[in-house]
Amino acid sequence: MCGIVGFTGHGPCTDILIESLKRLEYRGYDSAGIAVFENGSIRTAKAKGKINEGLVPLVNRGADNHFSTDFSHQTCGIGHTRWATHGEPSDINSHPIGNGRVCIVHNGIIENYREIKEFLLNAGYSFESETDTETVVKLLDYYYDGDPVEAIIKVCAEIKGAYALGILFRGFSDTIYAVKKESPLIVGKGQDGNFIASDVAAIMEYTKDYYLLEADEIAVIHPDSIAFLDKHRRPIDKELRTVDWDISAAKKGGYEHFMLKEIHEQPSVLASSMSVRIKDGLPDFSDFGLTRERINSYSRFFIVGCGSAMHAGIVGKSLLESLARVPVTVDIASEWRYADPLIDEHDLCIVISQSGETADTLAALKLAKECGADTLAVVNVVGSTIARAADMVLYMSAGPEISVCSTKAYAVQVEMMYLIAFAVTLSKGKITEEKCREYIKELQKLPELVEKLLEDKTDYQFAASNLMNAESLLYIGRGLDYALSMEGSLKLKEISYIHSESYAAGELKHGTISLITEDTPVIAVATQTALIDKTVSNIKEVKARGAKVLLITREKQIIDEKAYDIRVNLPDAEDIFMPIITCVPLQLIAYYTAVLRGTDVDMPRNLAKSVTVE
Ligand code: AGP
Ligand code: GLU
Repeated sequence: MCGIVGFTGHGPCTDILIESLKRLEYRGYDSAGIAVFENGSIRTAKAKGKINEGLVPLVNRGADNHFSTDFSHQTCGIGHTRWATHGEPSDINSHPIGNGRVCIVHNGIIENYREIKEFLLNAGYSFESETDTETVVKLLDYYYDGDPVEAIIKVCAEIKGAYALGILFRGFSDTIYAVKKESPLIVGKGQDGNFIASDVAAIMEYTKDYYLLEADEIAVIHPDSIAFLDKHRRPIDKELRTVDWDISAAKKGGYEHFMLKEIHEQPSVLASSMSVRIKDGLPDFSDFGLTRERINSYSRFFIVGCGSAMHAGIVGKSLLESLARVPVTVDIASEWRYADPLIDEHDLCIVISQSGETADTLAALKLAKECGADTLAVVNVVGSTIARAADMVLYMSAGPEISVCSTKAYAVQVEMMYLIAFAVTLSKGKITEEKCREYIKELQKLPELVEKLLEDKTDYQFAASNLMNAESLLYIGRGLDYALSMEGSLKLKEISYIHSESYAAGELKHGTISLITEDTPVIAVATQTALIDKTVSNIKEVKARGAKVLLITREKQIIDEKAYDIRVNLPDAEDIFMPIITCVPLQLIAYYTAVLRGTDVDMPRNLAKSVTVE
């Protein structure tokens, strides 16, 4: 994905564009650029690298890509921070991309860009960049004969794929045009001008009022007015929404990194996200229609997501199968969507997505609907594409998660799995309301236990100091501990760049144990009392072969000291409730390891917060 912004108003736009882009940089940071109207012409400044590395020095020098431009006074422009999909990160592949008459910023993938490019080459066009986006610029130019809306309608009828576009047309120097399909785009309504942005966090500093642009709608944005048209040029009335959280939520709040801030937010968001879903001591999803009757109508359950969201789904599968005794399939969205899955109208497909924009998860949701299944989206971003495509939506209410590395979102997704599992177990008659209330009470204790874990972080810092120079390491566990070892491994890899692999502890002896040599780091997660003896045996197997074992287990668990080198203790809870506790040390060990290695914790290389492309 990438981040798109635009502003047209009565004051200077450059600083607004750059500051708004910085709030979107978590969406992609391969390159950044702006394009502004200057005396009727479009001036562009864009460069490879993060905003402060490339774009800002360029703007400050007043040296755009063709003219020396003082960027301090223009009042209408667009901006982009890129996560490259077509064409390597470079100055020439950076957005905005234009040809003097038309200039655009694009989030998404144009799937039929090759055939469009061939058509345009035959029509005499040339191409400078390697991007798919440039084909949209040239196609707009091809159709543009002085009527921007007409050109947009024709182009949108031809291009295929996902896109959110901010568009400038020469001759309309106070106007931004916007159109989208699949990729998110909002239109902000401000006091001194109007905006476009990929998400509302970008413009909250300036306005909390916005419109959600829908597919096939065209926004025509002037400094004092905003018009919406359908693809037949008919005016559309749209609901003006207002952001319900504060801009401070999108700032670091004194923490060195957003990731550390969001780890510390977990106790409060776990408590608040849960409270709105509990009524009379029981899980309550009636507001979006997941009633007991509807639950009992489902034969099978599917849980689909990507990355940490899928890892939360693995916990959900374990809970649903062990408590409700219902068959659950959990899978990676990019695999499930092409696997011709055995899902039908008798089933429920739960998709999990913090951003609500992950392309593979959205595609899986659409496939489930095509197969007749009911769909429930567990998402964090209100009004996101996945939220709007699902039959039912369970909002996580975790507040914005800015760091690319998912922490509080994962924890709240797991929490939502508990609530769904308890609701299904109750509906299926496997527990009484009284027992369900007991489960809920246990769940309500977790935020306090997580808070306790955050009081002293020296164990995690010490563990990190022992991992920071590792080349590769293993995370092992059994049952729910195996699910958590997956999440721990992903955290470490994505922010510290140390290779790691999660492995079922009982499976090691079937091959992978050959990797163990002197001092190979192994992080063993051992919280499941029902499996602890077996897990300890596996730990001893790797220890006997020279591994350096970091054991994460309950503080009360008695384990032979010879079985490990470092021990991180956890407060006690029932086996099924341990995941939300265990994930915190795993997050912090990864965090401190990354900090020690000096990586960019919140914006790790090659990544973006949400992958809105396939
Ligand atoms: C988690 O730390 C990763 N950043 C990533 O795996 C993420 O969970 C995944 O891309 C899914 O994102 P989503 O929840 O927004 O769909
Ligand atoms: N496909 C466009 C490019 O590669 C946009 C990528 C994105 O949305 O991040 O430049």
